Amino acid sequence: MSSAPAGRHWRTSASSGESEVRRFGRRLRAPVRLDFHRFISLALLTRGSQVSSLSPELQQVFRQHADKALPVRKAAVLGAGIMGGGITITSAAHGVPVVMKDIAQAQLDLGLAEAKRQLSRQLKKEKITQEQADQILASIEPTLEYTAFDQCDAVIEAVVENLGLKHRVLDEVEAVVSDKAIIASNTSSLRIDDIGAHMKHPQRFVGMHFFNPVPVMPLVEIIQGTRTSDEAVSTAVTWAVNMGKTPFVVQDCPGFLVNRILTAYTRAFLELVAEGADFEHIDKAMEAFGWPMGPAYLEDVVGIDTGSHVSDVISAGYPERMPPIENDAFRLLKSKERFGQKNGKGFYEYQPDDSGRPSKHSSPEAHELIRSIQPHGQKDVSVEEVQERMMLAMITEAVHCLEDRVVNSAEELDTALLMGIGFPRERGGAIHYADSLGARVILEQCERYRHLGRQYEPTATIRKLAQSGGTFYDAFPAGN
Ligand code: 3HC
Repeated sequence: MSSAPAGRHWRTSASSGESEVRRFGRRLRAPVRLDFHRFISLALLTRGSQVSSLSPELQQVFRQHADKALPVRKAAVLGAGIMGGGITITSAAHGVPVVMKDIAQAQLDLGLAEAKRQLSRQLKKEKITQEQADQILASIEPTLEYTAFDQCDAVIEAVVENLGLKHRVLDEVEAVVSDKAIIASNTSSLRIDDIGAHMKHPQRFVGMHFFNPVPVMPLVEIIQGTRTSDEAVSTAVTWAVNMGKTPFVVQDCPGFLVNRILTAYTRAFLELVAEGADFEHIDKAMEAFGWPMGPAYLEDVVGIDTGSHVSDVISAGYPERMPPIENDAFRLLKSKERFGQKNGKGFYEYQPDDSGRPSKHSSPEAHELIRSIQPHGQKDVSVEEVQERMMLAMITEAVHCLEDRVVNSAEELDTALLMGIGFPRERGGAIHYADSLGARVILEQCERYRHLGRQYEPTATIRKLAQSGGTFYDAFPAGN
């Protein structure tokens, strides 16, 4: 495998002249729902899997990785929180037994309870048999020690986003795993080179960034640090495919690809709220645009403590466009221990429904709290302005990512957004949507909002295309 950082999964097919990603992107944008269940044997947790919908050529690329990959017959996951728990159940459900380690028994109990709840839902829907459910559950080994780590072919850490803690944990892991095992990090915001800086064998260290909820979001970003070996990347890619995911190799920069773009979007949300806009109104506006959940609801699902920290760390990587936000609603809710779905209250309040899933309710308390960080009082912002500002922030950051070559092409970028954060399929992705408006309109919008900050400043490509009348898809073609 080449050491080019991004996009190597997406090749141009010599016979058709059309790239993988172009065809796949077109399929994703098609209004017809895909049949994702064709190839995956276990019905459990396959809703997000799109491997079966990929072209034969792309599946061939995955097979090439598989040739170079080391087998992952048993894995270990560090951290039984939302992400670690999700990775554990996904891996176990796809036939790879998992040692799930945490430092707190209560957290392990929560992780197991969630696994049981998901399995019983699948049982009730007759998607799996009792025997399969029992097998999956039995293949999860909860532990407070590094038990059986020496038998694992892959270890993934999903502990909190603290560089010092990650260094400590990785030191411990390196001391107990076999020489051949790969070690992955599910970091959301820290660079792989920084996390792996002190490792004795950094060539085996790779980023595997999953999206929440892990069982249903198809994307996994694979991050090759400067010292990561091709073998470790191929092993991570293949393990992700075997978990029913679609892996995507991206550059090692703050936020990688998807979280970097998502951060620009959530910051636009925070700015609107600080100006006085109602967060439920913003959610409704963005859901009307086509998003599966508005930004406040999404933050509750991700966890406000996690999301706030991730947003701060990524923002620090782009200080000109992403300076600290005054009257930051995430920080406020975090300080009031409103962490979102995980503790039942965030922007909204949550109560378990009949099947144990959290159902969302409006929270007068959250509205009152938010009013305390709206120094100019409440403000009516039109649906159009909300949508424009949120989407423009996302588009400009997406264009920066293309200019910085975080991924090679507009279509790769769009495909990652479709699979990682549920970008409205009918809009085709941030760049496809920008092309549908035209670069001239994007430039006009930038001019209209640039007084709000440098995040709305048009990039060199936006200016160039506005002048030439060209498209972003032609400026950043796939397969080059
Ligand atoms: N765990 C497991 N399964 C879940 C789930 C969860 N937390 N939430 C939903 N599901 C399953 C349901 O069981 C259901 O399965 P079924 O089809 O077998 O019945 C299926 O997903 C659909 O659920 P719903 O019908 O209730 O809801 P939706 O159709 O709206 O889909 C969603 C739910 C896929 C979560 C959708 O709302 C979505 O795409 N949301 C966007 C999520 C997103 O953006 N995630 C990325 C966040 S950023 C991130 O993770 C990065 C990190 O670094 C912070």
